[in-house]
Amino acid sequence: MRYKYLCMILLSMACLFLYGAPVKIISHATVTMPIDSTKGLKDYFAKFFTIGVAVSPRALKTDEAGLIIQNFGSMTPENAMKMGPIHPKENEYFWRDADSIMAFAKANHLKVRGHNLCWHNQVPRWIFTNAAGDTVSKEVLLQRLQEHITTVVNRYKGSIYAWDVVNEAISDKPGEYLRNSAWYRICGEEFIAKAFEYAHAADPDALLFYNDYNEINPVKREKIYRLVKSLKDAGVPIHGIGLQGHWAINEPSEEELTNTIKKFVGLGLNIQVTELDISVYNKEHDARERKPEDTNTEFTAEKENAQIEMYKRCFIIFEKYKKYITGITFWNISDRSSWLDNFPVRGRKDYPLLFDKNLQPKKAFWEVVKTVK
Ligand code: GLA
Repeated sequence: MRYKYLCMILLSMACLFLYGAPVKIISHATVTMPIDSTKGLKDYFAKFFTIGVAVSPRALKTDEAGLIIQNFGSMTPENAMKMGPIHPKENEYFWRDADSIMAFAKANHLKVRGHNLCWHNQVPRWIFTNAAGDTVSKEVLLQRLQEHITTVVNRYKGSIYAWDVVNEAISDKPGEYLRNSAWYRICGEEFIAKAFEYAHAADPDALLFYNDYNEINPVKREKIYRLVKSLKDAGVPIHGIGLQGHWAINEPSEEELTNTIKKFVGLGLNIQVTELDISVYNKEHDARERKPEDTNTEFTAEKENAQIEMYKRCFIIFEKYKKYITGITFWNISDRSSWLDNFPVRGRKDYPLLFDKNLQPKKAFWEVVKTVK
């Protein structure tokens, strides 16, 4: 009997030690890690860069809200501030979603990156045409762009510290410099500089970024560099370059990522990774139909390990260039859902983030944290 009591007392003391203090022990499939439950991803990287996340207003009403507050220091509205959603008609703005993200940020002391002011996708129908359905002139389009940027930037002035002003203006075609978008067809190259000027006039304190993807590709990288350098040389108010970073288990190579960062360091601007995710499938840049081999969507150990290696590679390089990189933003919160569940293959489940479907830190999370020296 006495022995039983002694065992119980010892067990309770052990439990008190393990669970009463802020340091908890949780065990994963293969690792046993001490977790400081008060510490989130942002805290491990606080001495290097702000860690951010792309969000929807809906996610902020779920249990993902707590995860955001604990792990991230900044938010980017995934869709709510894009021109289509926020300015659906010429004389009508839709503020509710963007405002709710701003209110959450304010209440929880998170920074906000605005995304974005001028893009060829998710644009409202009315912007390029007049009432008769004809394409508008350059003057009219620039005037509409100015009105849009001034109104949106003004509304969140002082609360949004950085804006992606122009998104994805560079062409993916090797022989073509700027994307053949409606913006370009109507205004020529000038719309890019104008967008920065309008944003700067509306909020002179906001950091203004040019943001693009597949920057690790040497041909595209050169074009992005050429554009940003030409803007800077012309005295356009541009303060940063956003590397989207939609990567995968098979790219970027160490060399590609290092060369990319080194190249942009030469511009003397802020560098941020603005849309980081690492797909567990090999990279494909274009949407395509589902194939029979797409049915295997398990998050296998092989996929997990490949993803861990890629995340480690990226963070080791980010830390090496910490003097130049000011922010790393993940594109979506957890593997519960991400845009990659529908791209490039509609309905193919992906697992691109550091938190799993149950919002628990994945092994990749701990491996990334371990890269901090
Ligand atoms: C691009 C855009 C983002 C988002 C992603 C896909 O990277 O910049 O806003 O639309 O595509 O989610």
